[in-house]
Amino acid sequence: MLRTLKPVRRLGGTISMPGDKSIAHRVALMSIISHGPLRVKNFPGNLDCLTSLKAAQAFGVQVSKDGEEMVLTPPEELTFEPEMTVDCGNSGTTARLLAGIISGKDCEVTLAGDESLSRRPMKRIIAPLSEMGAEVFADEDHLPMRIRGRKLIPFEYRMPVASAQVKSSLLLAGMASSCSVTVREETITRDHTERMVVELGEGLTVTDIKPITVPDPDDPRKKRREMPEDYKREIRITGQAKINGGAVDIPGDISTASFFLAAAAISGRTIAVSNVGLNPTRTGFLDYLRSVGAKVEISDREVISGEPRGTVTVTGDRLKAKKISGSQTVALIDEIPIVAVMAAFANGTTVIRNAGELKVKESDRLQATAENLKLMGIKCGLLADGLVIDGGAQLPGTDFKSFGDHRIAMAFSIASLFLVGPSTIDDDSVVGISCPDFYEILDRIKQ
Ligand code: S3P
Repeated sequence: MLRTLKPVRRLGGTISMPGDKSIAHRVALMSIISHGPLRVKNFPGNLDCLTSLKAAQAFGVQVSKDGEEMVLTPPEELTFEPEMTVDCGNSGTTARLLAGIISGKDCEVTLAGDESLSRRPMKRIIAPLSEMGAEVFADEDHLPMRIRGRKLIPFEYRMPVASAQVKSSLLLAGMASSCSVTVREETITRDHTERMVVELGEGLTVTDIKPITVPDPDDPRKKRREMPEDYKREIRITGQAKINGGAVDIPGDISTASFFLAAAAISGRTIAVSNVGLNPTRTGFLDYLRSVGAKVEISDREVISGEPRGTVTVTGDRLKAKKISGSQTVALIDEIPIVAVMAAFANGTTVIRNAGELKVKESDRLQATAENLKLMGIKCGLLADGLVIDGGAQLPGTDFKSFGDHRIAMAFSIASLFLVGPSTIDDDSVVGISCPDFYEILDRIKQ
């Protein structure tokens, strides 16, 4: 539905977020291969996570309620209907992680998706899963894809793209098939799968490669720091790795929180988000907020279910422009649309590089962001792997396009609050993919 948003400058308050989407996908999908029930608190009601939950049910997982908890009970034997097709909707995480599980089981299943998901690249999982022994039938790079799983062979993989979905797919394939897998990452990606296996199961180790001190070849009197390997982290599962079952309390979603924290940063006011996930592979946006001049305070820190969490309080100030590139971009890859909105209100030119992956998200997020920024009167250059954004002031309200992408709709809904005059978003329903309550939460911070 078309939604009209009026400018609001008085914002503030304390809010909480629905459960983290990445963690929820993992708990839902891991229930398929778990040896015992999983008791889950704070499972979010967004469409993507419900897609993973439905997929688990299609394999025979029983979903029930026990007070505040959702209980996922794996079947004695996995059920596979002949010619089974699982609809992964809009969710890349469901498709890629489930592809790993299916590859390691004795079954044949087709994965399908909506129009957006059917455009997204799958070769990144098809190639390594095929090397492990799965048979995958698809047009070269896309859904629908039919996977014939089997007992896989031990596998070592150096990640060619920084992708937690690919990494998780291979680790789950190994666990589904009781075969060892080693994944090496040059850029560290979100590690929820690793933490969950350590928390609920056994057989997984993570080794961080530390720099070593060596003589400087140009001047042997001096020393320099060098990486002994060309990767930073190694994740290894043994052939005995498995999920035993247990309890998972999902922290609030920091990627969803980023939209509201950005509103505090732009408006110069204070907003706190309680009980939000603070996994260090996900907090790149908080570092970015600090670097552009916002005050970020963290309190009530604790670790539950292997995941750090706490209350984040952000107070805005005049925003500076900063360059974002390399591993910094990966650390806030889902937050780039809202970073771009903040850049529109910052003083100076923001350059975002190494963000080519955004072209293959739910929409081409580089293109979608650039088009919307231009609609609000911002000078924005589109690079092959990023954006150049000239910040401005007194920008007019406009008619934004969501491009069918939840994060684009949410980012430009936040932008609308700070424009001169009302704006519209062409389809507000897309926020349901990750945060159906987005506009209710937004109303709560308007004062
Ligand atoms: C996700 C990983 C990221 C991210 C996506 C969720 C995950 O994708 O953009 O929203 O839960 O593993 P890639 O791993 O493909 O970069």
